Amino acid sequence: MIIVKLGGSIISDKNKPFSFNESVVKQIAEEIAAFYPAKKFLLVHGGGSFGHPLAKKYKIREGLKKENMSGVSKIHQAMLELNKKIIEIFLDTGLPAFSISSSSIFIIKNGQIVDGWTRVIEESIARDFIPVLFGDVAIAKDKGIDILSGDQIISYLAGKLKPEKVIFLMDVDGIYDKNPKIHEDARLIEEINEKISLRQEAAGIDVTGGVRNKIDEALKIPCPVYFINGMVRGNLTKAIKGERVGTRKL
Ligand code: ADP
Ligand code: IPE
Repeated sequence: MIIVKLGGSIISDKNKPFSFNESVVKQIAEEIAAFYPAKKFLLVHGGGSFGHPLAKKYKIREGLKKENMSGVSKIHQAMLELNKKIIEIFLDTGLPAFSISSSSIFIIKNGQIVDGWTRVIEESIARDFIPVLFGDVAIAKDKGIDILSGDQIISYLAGKLKPEKVIFLMDVDGIYDKNPKIHEDARLIEEINEKISLRQEAAGIDVTGGVRNKIDEALKIPCPVYFINGMVRGNLTKAIKGERVGTRKL
């Protein structure tokens, strides 16, 4: 089984509220379809401009307050809307994508999953479904409510479900020594390990810690991890085949 993260930065334009990159999701579905059902998949997508701006607006990371309760629900609904768009494209491509709401099966503390009911994920993969989870609001033991990032979901599920590999699809070619969108001389790192040090950048609209959080979570994953540019057709195919592309954690 392979876990693929559809980063918010490729499925939507993080600077345009509620924008959806239909053609990129279509391309990803087509590349996965070439391997299914010989290979099994589990997908997790991010919030992009459906999740982060609303999470900021309703100050969800400050925890549960009387005045943000309806905001919690609105964020979840926005994520369901994004999830529906993605599921429909996979179904049109002939893939049995099956939506599973993260907030219905996980409880978190300090942004990390501390309680999870994953049987339904395992049982649906066993039946050849492709479960599709997503970054979401979640019940939090410490703050009452908080944001659960797709990257946290992936490290938790990778620990439990022991996938063959994990592939993060991003809008840049992998992990660089500094933000390649700001620094022209940024250098792509072919292989990362726990010694990696990066120049810290402001997180922009991102409420879940951006690329630093992604790397920290990836380093906990007990199987090979790829960080690749999901906008480039063929990259996902290469990563699934185990060919050299982007950044790897072995
Ligand atoms: P996603 O939404 O796809 O899960 P993020 O938006 O959290 O991913 O992270 C990808 C973004 O992180 C890229 O658009 C890139 O501009 C930015 N970034 C900042 N620093 C780095 C870095 N050192 N290497 C790669 N990307 C970086
Ligand atoms: C964030 O999930 C979910 C919400 C803001 C509701 P992620 O942290 O996985 O999202 P991206 O990939 O950065 O957009």
